Amino acid sequence: MISLTDTVAWGALQAHFPRVASEHLRDLFAGDPDRFERLSLRACGILLDYSKNRVTAETMDLLRALACESGVMERAHAMVSGVRINETEDRAVLHALLRDSRDSPVCKVDGALRAGVERTLEAMERFSEEVRSGRWRGHGGERITDVVNIGIGGSDLGPRMVCRALAPHADGPRVHFVSNIDGAHLTSTLRGLDPARTLFVVASKTFTTVETMTNAHAARRWLLDAAGDEAAVARHFVAASTNRAAVVGFGIAPEHMFEFEDWVGGRYSLWSAIGLPIAITVGMTQFRALLAGAHAMDRHFLEAPLDRNLPVTLALLGVWYVNFFGAETHAVLAYDQRLDRFAAHLQQLDMESNGKRVTLASTTVDYATGPVVWGEPGTGGQHAFFQLLHQGTRLVPADFIVAASCDHSLKDQHRLLVANCLAQTEALMLGRSEAEVRADLAAGGMPLGPSNRLASHRTFDGNRPTNTLMFERLDPFTLGALVALYEHKVFVQGAIWRVNSFDQWGVELGKELATSIARELANPDGVRPHDASTGGLVAEYRRLSG
Ligand code: F6P
Repeated sequence: MISLTDTVAWGALQAHFPRVASEHLRDLFAGDPDRFERLSLRACGILLDYSKNRVTAETMDLLRALACESGVMERAHAMVSGVRINETEDRAVLHALLRDSRDSPVCKVDGALRAGVERTLEAMERFSEEVRSGRWRGHGGERITDVVNIGIGGSDLGPRMVCRALAPHADGPRVHFVSNIDGAHLTSTLRGLDPARTLFVVASKTFTTVETMTNAHAARRWLLDAAGDEAAVARHFVAASTNRAAVVGFGIAPEHMFEFEDWVGGRYSLWSAIGLPIAITVGMTQFRALLAGAHAMDRHFLEAPLDRNLPVTLALLGVWYVNFFGAETHAVLAYDQRLDRFAAHLQQLDMESNGKRVTLASTTVDYATGPVVWGEPGTGGQHAFFQLLHQGTRLVPADFIVAASCDHSLKDQHRLLVANCLAQTEALMLGRSEAEVRADLAAGGMPLGPSNRLASHRTFDGNRPTNTLMFERLDPFTLGALVALYEHKVFVQGAIWRVNSFDQWGVELGKELATSIARELANPDGVRPHDASTGGLVAEYRRLSG
């Protein structure tokens, strides 16, 4: 197989790049009054305006040719047909099945798999309703008021992000999330909670992850210190996992284990039993609406032609900036306080999926792959890092996400929020030329001397690319569609970069070394040879910790 950089489509993009790179977005807009209509798409209630990108119609055609030459959609159909496309772990990749519709399915899989998904959803529905209604009681007969999810990575980030985003719909017990091995996380979360009224969800695909199991055992001790009876564990702990033996070994009754399968990757698992805290806090009807939104996006992704396809378009623009403009990072700027964990979720989704340097054919890439994904909600970021976005030396492509309507009563503030979002993308695109700055300064009465000194500082180059994603409101359906949109974006990019987006070998080495260093920190005689830095730090820790 020829290398990606030797494909016809790649060569064509390389030849095309200098022409586009020298164009200013301001001129592209001036030369085409219909640019917004032509370069915007709608699906599942989401508008994607990608007109403020450094592309022409030809760029998009060439990028779509790259997607075709890379067999992106063939791979997508293989995924939803249950082909083991996660080759290095020999697993299928079927998170789309978790949200598939019985009436109009997109997955072509065995009925038994589908039935298993439905069984888990029904079990989640029964259990979440019991907890929400107060029929489920703690060991001492008290109603549950607080649910603590103990998990990390995909067993934390997705459900945590969704619970925050759907907070206006929350009418069940309060949910809390503990992930860090740092005991401060568990301690501060449990402070103020009543063991008699607290339910723990131990969320771990493997049920072996050190952070999760350590926190789960500490939580178990906290409960037993108060309850004084081992039998309390069965009333205060449930699990979401694939590892039945380990769950039962922990003392959780098998009927209180919510199962999923190994074909659900951690970062794609919020749709599975890992979503239990979501179901408990907002109810199963809203959880099913979240799944329906994701399903609608699955269908759109699999069926829409490439030039109308939102995930494909977002992915191709990302490839354009990473591989041709040399962008190192990608910012996700949600103008929505409720999406304050959205970028964190996307970090795992994107960087654990495509932060790879070896292809599925086991060759080392000679091109860049996944960017550093980062972001904070607007408008806070405007007063922090936006300076660099506007006037720094780096190109940082960014997605701006905003809902037209809000769920609170401060409508004027929401209008200001939207105004800020739109103003930022306009400013990043247009910039302000030195001539305009000079004219402004002169109009304000500034003499020529100071004006000469200040003009360049106050000039904005513009030409900084952004996507805007706008929808009516952040309801469960739209959130589901939005998350699935990014999942498929990451999938498309992985397919183009030829990496396996579904393994995560890169997290293993650090885990292994931490286990052995933890032993050394506990036992001074057990120190093995280290490099000078690590050895010095081990010694310093010993000295400081006594
Ligand atoms: O960090 C690696 C990882 O395996 C993630 O992919 C996963 O989401 C996380 O750890 C948690 O794993 P588990 O759900 O098995 O505890």
